[in-house]
Amino acid sequence: MTYLLALDQGTSSSRSILFNARGHIVTMAQQELPQSYPRPGWVEHDPQLIWQTQLATARQALKQAGIAASAVRAVGITNQRETTVLWHRATGKPLHHAIVWQDRRAEPACAALREAGHEEAILRKTGLRIDAYFSATKLQWLLNHIPGARAQAERGELAFGTVDSWLMWNLTRGAAHVTDVSNAARTMLFDVHRNRWDEELLDLLGIPSALLPRVQPSASAFGVVHADWLGAELPIGGVAGDQQSALFGQACFSGGMTKNTYGTGCFMLMHTGGDFQRSANGLVTTSAAQATEAPQFALEGSVFVGGAVVQWLRDGLKAISSSDEVQHLAETVPDAGGVMLVPAFTGLGAPYWQPDARGTITGITRGTSIAHIARAALDSIAYQSAALLLAMGRDVQDAGGVPVAELRVDGGACVNDLLMQFQADLLGIPVLRPAVVETTALGAAWLAGLSCGLYAGTDELQSLWQAERQFFPTMAPERAAELMQAWEHAVRQAVVA
Ligand code: G3P
Repeated sequence: MTYLLALDQGTSSSRSILFNARGHIVTMAQQELPQSYPRPGWVEHDPQLIWQTQLATARQALKQAGIAASAVRAVGITNQRETTVLWHRATGKPLHHAIVWQDRRAEPACAALREAGHEEAILRKTGLRIDAYFSATKLQWLLNHIPGARAQAERGELAFGTVDSWLMWNLTRGAAHVTDVSNAARTMLFDVHRNRWDEELLDLLGIPSALLPRVQPSASAFGVVHADWLGAELPIGGVAGDQQSALFGQACFSGGMTKNTYGTGCFMLMHTGGDFQRSANGLVTTSAAQATEAPQFALEGSVFVGGAVVQWLRDGLKAISSSDEVQHLAETVPDAGGVMLVPAFTGLGAPYWQPDARGTITGITRGTSIAHIARAALDSIAYQSAALLLAMGRDVQDAGGVPVAELRVDGGACVNDLLMQFQADLLGIPVLRPAVVETTALGAAWLAGLSCGLYAGTDELQSLWQAERQFFPTMAPERAAELMQAWEHAVRQAVVA
């Protein structure tokens, strides 16, 4: 038997999944990752806990399978993106907690960059809009706030990395300081056209180049896991940021193929092949996972509160006692009864980009019950995702491309049939749920399998991907358009709220 081991380091947990060569799950292990919120708007992780929980789950997954590590052909890594770690090269010790992608502390630095007129140049090179979400200004903050850090960085004593780099540094016992193009693309320091760090951006942000990892294609030889960790030396052959990894694991390899991940937030990515497509509709352009040196791109939209709205129903409103109850409660009413819930708890991300918007419920009448609110909360996940797909559709139309034909879905909330049906109804296209919903980890495993020669190419992977269920639209398009209009109306209330 041949196995691939995927390490999936996410925002809320570290997971390891052992796949067989057909891409079926053999074993899976998971550990929660503690979150730290030192000030309002700040979110941090302890890098040592990221590493320890990840290693522990890798060991657990192998143990559960009862196989020797030597039976693993290659390791793939996928990770929460943008989260920024800074460590000493000599000791491997972090200088500070990791600054997590959700952290907003670098917003003043971003505002200054916008005011100084750098938006166009940054967008042209990186595909990104200036935002504290990306790594560059988080790293700048660390260099500016840790005494002595800047001088040490200039002397080449420190290393910066996103979570993939940090894990690989540890897995290889400091032999590899490396990342892949899809993670580098989220730093706002990377020229996605030339696939290299951009000297002008490094100068602009005052980032010494001695800090940076080497950048490689997502399917390539990154380094070797030290035998101390898992009991055998194992090649690391695939690395991608979690959203690009999910796009790959959904077998979306060519222009127009689109996936949406329903996690805490929702992340929709549409592959655009070798074309760097600029969005005129509030999306960003990012590097897709790349099996070769040739750049590959995707349009991406991120919704900040997706499945997290269900946690709010549970923990904030106490409307349900566990997240699984939401579908049952929502199904006790035929629809949301005109209620719209805009979960702009931390502002609105793509395609609206309204940091000051706040959560809003509209359309409440004397007949509104908690079931209607639950239904509206679920609907909000579908409305926000539909707004992303409509924005992508407008971008595609502007570029003379072909409209998106189907949406592939994954992530925790995609098991909710009610939500998936409503999503198909709003979009007017089929929604496809794959047989293996762990597509983030699968993408990393497939990338590792490609680089070690287990798979001949993406055509072979395409034939391994299977839908478990398809949801076809049943709603009249006029009704779907009316609902989207009502949603946009509610969003406008949230923006002025
Ligand atoms: O851009 C942030 C994203 O990569 C985080 O994903 O699944 O860890 O919440 P997740």
